[in-house]
Amino acid sequence: MSDKKLHLALGVTDLAASVADYTTRLGAEPVLVIDGEYALWRTKTLNVSIRTVEGAPGLRHLGWEDPQAEAMTASPDVNGLVWEHFTAEQQAEEIRSVWPQADYHGPDTSKHRRIKSFVLRQGHLSKGQEKALHDFGPKYCIPYRDQLLDLDAAFGRSAPRVLEIGFGMGQATAQIAAGRSDTDFIGVEVHTPGVGSLLKLLGEGDIGNVRIVQHDAVDVLQQMIAPAGLDGVHVYFPDPWHKKRHNKRRLIQPAFVELLVSRLKSGGYIHLATDWEDYAIQMLEVLSGNADLLNTADGYAPRPDYRPLTKFENRGIKLGHGVWDLVFRKR
Ligand SMILES: C[S@@+](CC[C@H](N)C(=O)[O-])C[C@H]1O[C@@H](n2cnc3c(N)ncnc32)[C@H](O)[C@@H]1O
Repeated sequence: MSDKKLHLALGVTDLAASVADYTTRLGAEPVLVIDGEYALWRTKTLNVSIRTVEGAPGLRHLGWEDPQAEAMTASPDVNGLVWEHFTAEQQAEEIRSVWPQADYHGPDTSKHRRIKSFVLRQGHLSKGQEKALHDFGPKYCIPYRDQLLDLDAAFGRSAPRVLEIGFGMGQATAQIAAGRSDTDFIGVEVHTPGVGSLLKLLGEGDIGNVRIVQHDAVDVLQQMIAPAGLDGVHVYFPDPWHKKRHNKRRLIQPAFVELLVSRLKSGGYIHLATDWEDYAIQMLEVLSGNADLLNTADGYAPRPDYRPLTKFENRGIKLGHGVWDLVFRKR
């Protein structure tokens, strides 16, 4: 039997009355109620949410809660009705991004839930990005799987391999790949508009040495990349999570760097860049604290020629921030 649940999202005008009515109709208690704003039920076959709306009540959208969903996506059907596709965990993240105070973590009650370095927001998909996903996705995208990826087969050749985490809209990725045609690049990103944007650049520029996995990089590294399988790792302008209470979401932490190092060949490199000074300090501390890594510079490194200025960097420079590059090699 399928373990998918049909998702119905309804707009309502009286939340309390609707919670009472639908609890009876669905024969189940809601798993979450945010007074006056939102409620969610998860039954064996249904995932039903209601949200207070200003105008007329009715169907907002449909979709599937599906344990196999790779990222939260949404697309209109032939009638213009939007269908979403998500895991229960992705839905919980979305709920937390709107109502952090509810601290809703979905059906996973494990105390050892992993803290994510990103929040999945829907984001607007432009027509061009949507077309690129359709036209170029099959050529460049590799679905996430809990099994080792055969990189020679994926790229159709044997070449040095660099993995980039969080490529954003992918401008830097496409430029670096075009300038380093002897190297293969695996771009990992969770946001669909970013994937669409990079696909557009790759497809229109006929750049052949990039593949994309749309998934959390932690899983990709753990499951799909073999130990000592990489020649390099790029992480440019990772989300700074600058509020003290969010610092724990930062990607560059000792355990994650240990995972990166395990996937690098001896002599392979980690190249990080950030425009947040205290994150730069943390990066330097964490990389310097890993006994298997050697700094290629005395502290921060000069920006290597292959890395172009990114959108985030330009914004940082306009705000008067500095930019710090770090390049370490595995012993
Ligand atoms: C601040 S943006 C920087 C984007 C790009 N590197 C640039 O410099 O313009 C950080 C990106 O990392 C992605 N990200 C964060 N954590 C991730 C993870 N665990 N796996 C994959 N992507 C992640 C986010 O979705 C976001 O697009």
